[in-house]
Amino acid sequence: MLDPSRIVEPDRVRREAYTDPAIFDLEMQRIHETVWIYCGHESQVPKAGDYYTMQIGRQPMIMVRGKDRKVHVLYNRCPHRGNMMCGDRHGNTGEQFRCSYHAWQFHHDGTLKNIPMMDSGYAGTRVNKGSPELNMKPAARVESYRGFVFASLASSGPGLKEFLGKSIVAFDDMCDRAPEGEVEVVPNCFRVIQHSNWKLFMENQIDALHPSVTHQSTGRAAHEVEKQLAKKAKAGEALSYHMLSAFATVTIDKWDNFQTINYPYGHCILTGYMGLRPQDPDTKAYDKIMIKAYGQKRFEEIVGVNIHHVLVYPGLSVQSPLQQLRAVRPLGVDRTLTEIWHFRLKGAPEAIYRRSLAYYNLVNSPATLINADDLENFWKCHQGLSSDGGDWVSFARHHGHDIEKPGEVSSAPNQGTSEAPMRNQMKAWAKYMQA
Ligand code: FES
Ligand SMILES: [Fe+2]
Repeated sequence: MLDPSRIVEPDRVRREAYTDPAIFDLEMQRIHETVWIYCGHESQVPKAGDYYTMQIGRQPMIMVRGKDRKVHVLYNRCPHRGNMMCGDRHGNTGEQFRCSYHAWQFHHDGTLKNIPMMDSGYAGTRVNKGSPELNMKPAARVESYRGFVFASLASSGPGLKEFLGKSIVAFDDMCDRAPEGEVEVVPNCFRVIQHSNWKLFMENQIDALHPSVTHQSTGRAAHEVEKQLAKKAKAGEALSYHMLSAFATVTIDKWDNFQTINYPYGHCILTGYMGLRPQDPDTKAYDKIMIKAYGQKRFEEIVGVNIHHVLVYPGLSVQSPLQQLRAVRPLGVDRTLTEIWHFRLKGAPEAIYRRSLAYYNLVNSPATLINADDLENFWKCHQGLSSDGGDWVSFARHHGHDIEKPGEVSSAPNQGTSEAPMRNQMKAWAKYMQA
């Protein structure tokens, strides 16, 4: 394996960062299984015993609601002989977890409740109630912010809020747009497996250079549909398509008008570029409810937040004004699962939910071309990077022109297509990897 310190240069990265299985193992250990990773939303597990399984790095985990209302995150493993406790993706475990192999039972916080025939078989052995190794192991740290649950498998390191830093705005922006100040998960997500390294996904999320190239044909088709809908006076539906047609109607040089702001730990904010304050009847009805809930001044502040996309490195991409997020679950050096979730604004009119649902489907569903456009590039990138056709990946665009302030690096005005976000991610990556 190459020495991680020799893989990353300020404006380029060795291809092995994406293709070497040994590097993948090390980054799972030093990054994904160390930092704060998004588990899910509290509303996915509303009742005691409700659980959801997910992966943190290479570790199968369970997020479960306890009788005390607390959300716990546990390794999905029975302390007896290692059986996974929950084989299903989600469900309700009832009063306790009960292993399907030999029926050892555990409280929702993972502590041992009972072992069948405990009294007759374990005298004089190391198995006695109260010994910690007989509990299901919890994640070292679990914290929740405005309903979004994160876990870290390392017992030390920055707290969740410190880790999120400025990227915390993603969750505030999403929740503040709800008249009740909270969001609720829509209880299903798209799951997409891409045949590439996980970092290609993270880089693409805030790649302002690619949409007008990669998604041009999709954007053009959306523009046609948008015009037809507008003729039929279906403003609400036309709006969803407008978000796609922007990929084609905004020419590549115009993307330079946007800005990326990059933060420590690899996080990044892309400032807004879509007209998200339309004046159709649905939006006006929503505005009215919001003004009633927050007052005019606060309302203006909330809907004026200039954000389109927030990247929480290494595992989350949030589009707060559209109430959706994508969680990244690396499966192998060349295989990556993304879970794409969306949320309802509590207290907002149904039409507003329908609009974000339409966008969610247009961008993410198996039927959309947007996702297909990107997925094909991901696969092709991974194939090219696995070849002997070259050793380096270039992130040189506008290198040396970013604006550096303490704690943040911004793309310069009119340089929104700067590859600053990729440089920032790989800088954070190198720091983690040398830990
Ligand atoms: S492996 Fe779980 S009870 Fe035996
Ligand atoms: Fe894309």
